[in-house]
Amino acid sequence: MTQYKLLTPGPLTTTETVKAQMLEDRCTWDDDYKDLTQSIRQKLLTIGMADTNKYTTVLQQGSGSFVVESVLQTALSNDDHILIISNGAYGERMIKMAQVMNKRVTSVYSPYNAIPNINELKQIIEDDTTITHLAFVHCETTTGILNPIKEICEIATQKNLQVIVDAMSSFGGVPINVEELNIDYLISSANKCIQGVPGFGFVIAKRTSLELCKGNATSISLDLYDQWKNMNIDGKWRFTSPTHVVASFSQAIRELEEEGGVVQRYQRYQSNNTYIINEMKKMGFEPYVKNTVQSPIITTFLYPNESFDFKDFYEYMKHRNFVLYPGKLMNKPSFRIGNIGDLHRNDFELMIKLIKQYRIMRGE
Ligand SMILES: Cc1ncc(COP(=O)(O)O)c(C=O)c1O
Repeated sequence: MTQYKLLTPGPLTTTETVKAQMLEDRCTWDDDYKDLTQSIRQKLLTIGMADTNKYTTVLQQGSGSFVVESVLQTALSNDDHILIISNGAYGERMIKMAQVMNKRVTSVYSPYNAIPNINELKQIIEDDTTITHLAFVHCETTTGILNPIKEICEIATQKNLQVIVDAMSSFGGVPINVEELNIDYLISSANKCIQGVPGFGFVIAKRTSLELCKGNATSISLDLYDQWKNMNIDGKWRFTSPTHVVASFSQAIRELEEEGGVVQRYQRYQSNNTYIINEMKKMGFEPYVKNTVQSPIITTFLYPNESFDFKDFYEYMKHRNFVLYPGKLMNKPSFRIGNIGDLHRNDFELMIKLIKQYRIMRGE
């Protein structure tokens, strides 16, 4: 079995101990397993710096998109109107979801390499008093840009709007004070910065907001309110839960704590991201977004020249156990390097050494 180093934003490289948890089979109705669920819910609040009296956590089966969809389904009533900010594929996906659900949605777009214009957002909200909710992506994994969570949340609070944050690829890797930011729904999933494996996602929700959502969802499986009420009884999930994934996620949280918590993990990600960018620049690879808005999670690099063959580069690296990530830009050839997961400076030093060797081999 090859243990690849995944330079991707999830599924990502996990530790042996996280993987080992999946060797034990567990029952969904067993008390130990239900306790595991309850303890994960509690620990996620601690990671999000959210008070138990004001906030709750709901776990939801499926990939991250299922959880985003369940929040939009549940948080929005027929009378609500949501403003969705987009500067990448995941913002666009949220807009599409809301439209397919026939929710009332206004969308505002920024270029993929630019953060949203705060004054423009203020103006839109000022001009349309029917807007009740605001949604955006924190780290747009499409490019690696980090949107200004504080400024956006502040506008929402000033205008009394409920806030939905897709923090899929940042929660656990970038400190987020959910309560201080007055976020109503924060969404993330098991296989991102907490460094678990894929299979479910979660929502940190403001109790007073979620409490008002009964009957909003027009889907049974994506009804977050119903999921919450059932999970609250004793920790049993409504439908079959991904038991192996849940157990390994619990271990992943323990390992986050052992590392020193989110601040320490953030520092590891940040320092490795800076190292990668500096070394890649020396070899002629320019990052797509400016340093001031670059997240510590994943970086988009432009091809260094027209003859650059990503497929060939990818295969070269894969044969040496490093799996790169293709780009997602429409107008510029690019690729991405994610640096989250159980990856450390020595891994990235080796990665850079291999990239140097590749460039020399290709005469560049
Ligand atoms: C910011 C963001 N939102 C949503 C998603 C969708 O998650 P999934 O692919 O697990 O459905 C991703 C996936 O990487 C993401 O990075």
